[in-house]
Order: sequence, then C-alpha cells, then structure tokens
Amino acid sequence: MPLAVNLAKYPSGPITPENFEVVEVPTPAVPEGWFLIRNRVFSLDAGFRQWMSEGAGDNYLSGMALNEPVQSIVLGEVVETRHPDYPVGTLVNARTAWEEVSLLDGSDLCAPLQCADDLPLQDYMSTLGPTGITAWLGLFRIGLPKAGDVVVVSAAGGAVGTIVGQLAKAAGCRTIGLVSSSAKAQWLTDEVGYDVAISREAQPDLAAALADAAPTGIDLFFDNVGGGVLNTAMQHLREGARLVLCGAISQYESEVQPITHSWELVTKRARMEGFMFSDYVDEFPEVMATLESALRDGTLKTFDQQYNGIEQTPQAFCDMMHGASRGKCLVLLG
Ligand SMILES: NC(=O)c1ccc[n+]([C@@H]2O[C@H](COP(=O)([O-])OP(=O)(O)OC[C@H]3O[C@@H](n4cnc5c(N)ncnc54)[C@H](OP(=O)(O)O)[C@@H]3O)[C@@H](O)[C@H]2O)c1
Repeated sequence: MPLAVNLAKYPSGPITPENFEVVEVPTPAVPEGWFLIRNRVFSLDAGFRQWMSEGAGDNYLSGMALNEPVQSIVLGEVVETRHPDYPVGTLVNARTAWEEVSLLDGSDLCAPLQCADDLPLQDYMSTLGPTGITAWLGLFRIGLPKAGDVVVVSAAGGAVGTIVGQLAKAAGCRTIGLVSSSAKAQWLTDEVGYDVAISREAQPDLAAALADAAPTGIDLFFDNVGGGVLNTAMQHLREGARLVLCGAISQYESEVQPITHSWELVTKRARMEGFMFSDYVDEFPEVMATLESALRDGTLKTFDQQYNGIEQTPQAFCDMMHGASRGKCLVLLG
C-alpha cells in the first residue's frame, strides 16, 4: 500500500519528527471527474507550520487535522484518470498532502505543468514553483526595487531568501542577507552572491549590524521572519522605503514579539505590504517563463537540499524550520 505522513500530535513550540507518523493508506478509487497522481516531489514550505498548531486556521487555509496527511504543495504525475483535462502522464502541480498518491479533481492550485527536458524536474518545486514565484512577486510586484537600492532580506539562506537575493542583485541592488550561523553567512556571500551577510551567531546585535552594513538606511526590506527582526529593521529605513511582508517564521513556533516602531513608517514615508503568492495565479506562466530564462542564462541558480523517500519528510521539514537546511528543502520520491 502507498505511504502517507500524518500529523500525529499537534506541535507546541519547535516541531520534531515525533509530531508526524508515516502510515500505509489504501489507494483510492477514482470517481468521474477525478484523477490519481503518483507524487514525485514534495515542496517543504515553512508557511505550512502555521496551520499545524492546534486551533490553527484562518481566512487562507483551514488548520490541519490529527491523523490526516499533512498539507503540502507537490509535483505529481497522473497515473489513472477520469478527468478530460488530465490524461495519464500529465505532470501536475497541486496543493495536496504528504502522500505517495493523491486523488485530485483539478481544484486548489492544481495545474498541469509543462516541464522542460533540460531542467531538473525538482526545479518546478523550487525556483520554477511557488517558491520562486513568491520571491519574484514579492520583490517586483510589492517591493519595486530600483538599481542602487539597499535591499535587506531576512531568512536569506532559505528557499525564498536565496532567490530574492539573486533577483535583487541582478536588478542592480546592494543585497544584505540575515541568517543564523557564520557558516551560512559565508555561503551566502561566497555562493549565493549576497554582497553582505549578517549572522545572529557572529553579530547578535542586529541594530548595530544594520547600522554598520547599511549606514544610509534600507530601501527595501523583504521580510520572512517578522517579530523582533522586522521591528529592528523598521528603525533603519531610508525615506520612501518599502517593507515586503512575505512571512513571519519567528512567530510560527514561539510567542509573537511586539512591533513598536511603526512611527518610523510615518516619518520615512514608508510602505509596508503583505501578499500571498496565490493571489497572482494569472501571472504564474509569465513569472515562470522569466525565471526559466534566468536559470538558462545563468543569472539565477537553484540552491536546494534534497531528501529521498517519503520517510525522510518529517526530518526534512524540521531541518528546514530550524535552519539545518540551505536553499529550498525538497523530498524526492523517485
Ligand atoms: N506570502 C507568501 O505567499 C509566501 C509563500 C511562500 C513562503 N512564504 C514565507 O516565506 C518565508 C520563508 O519560507 P520558506 O519556505 O522559503 O522557508 P525557508 O526560508 O527555506 O526556511 C525557513 C528558514 O527561516 C529561518 N528561521 C527559522 N526560525 C527563525 C527565527 N526565529 N528567526 C529568524 N530566522 C528563522 C531558518 O534559517 P536560519 O538558519 O537563517 O535561521 C530557516 O531555514 C516563511 O515565512 C514563509 O511563511 C510566504
């Protein structure tokens, strides 16, 4: 029987592999209008941690239920079909769950994928998937970078952060990335291409580090972390700054830290705006084509950390949440 990963216990505080359970599940029958996919790649996304807590659920997604497969974005291949738009062999991007096979009806961010033969399939779950699309939309639709801008990115060594840094640099900006460890900071400047990297390990006083790295202030803050990091960045803005609220990972597993510097937005005539990538579905093909051509001409690189087999998914997710992975965290199912 195929395997799935269930949410076994609601996490409170940092999530561990014990919050999940790998189980066998029967292969579902396929009703008229539905199709079955064999999943090839799981995209592990920090945002989903938000909906794993007990009582979670909001205007965007419902909270996850115990003893049900964990929600996820996946890339799969149609293996059985009773849906005219999804013949057998079609590659599909969908929001479904950590399971080896999924039954779908074509709704919920589901779309057929045209994957180029000369690019790795898993890129369609990272740079060419929701992660890359999020980075591009947040930067160019909300952040509006101009050449010469100082762009600061939090969680810069993660999936979204590695792409935002490269795109901002290619747009002529000076890029500063915030990460946890000195080793990750070194990798960020040496390989990902950030101009400057600030690590919590080597420079625990973020205010001082930002004052040093961006003495004239921040033009664009791309925030994946929220809480204290956002609050500190608010004190270092240049006039006309843009703050892109992409995520708030510091809040997903611990107490929310207060924002006390909103007055800075007034005097700096700054704009702070949140967004969800899924509001821009109509733009996905164009954004994907732009990212695909940047991958081909070498101005953009994919950084990913791959795990193999569904059994690795709980550990992979915890590694991603707690900074043990670099770039996009993926599980390949073969
Ligand atoms: N708005 C949207 O449509 C959208 C779509 C996708 C993702 N997102 C958001 O984008 C953010 C990044 O998601 P991702 O999937 O790309 O994850 P990711 O950046 O690959 O992984 C999360 C990283 O966050 C850092 N981190 C964890 N706890 C932290 C803390 N308390 N303070 C500072 N850094 C912390 C860790 O790196 P370090 O080693 O540096 O600590 C970790 O590796 C998340 O907030 C997510 O919710 C938003």
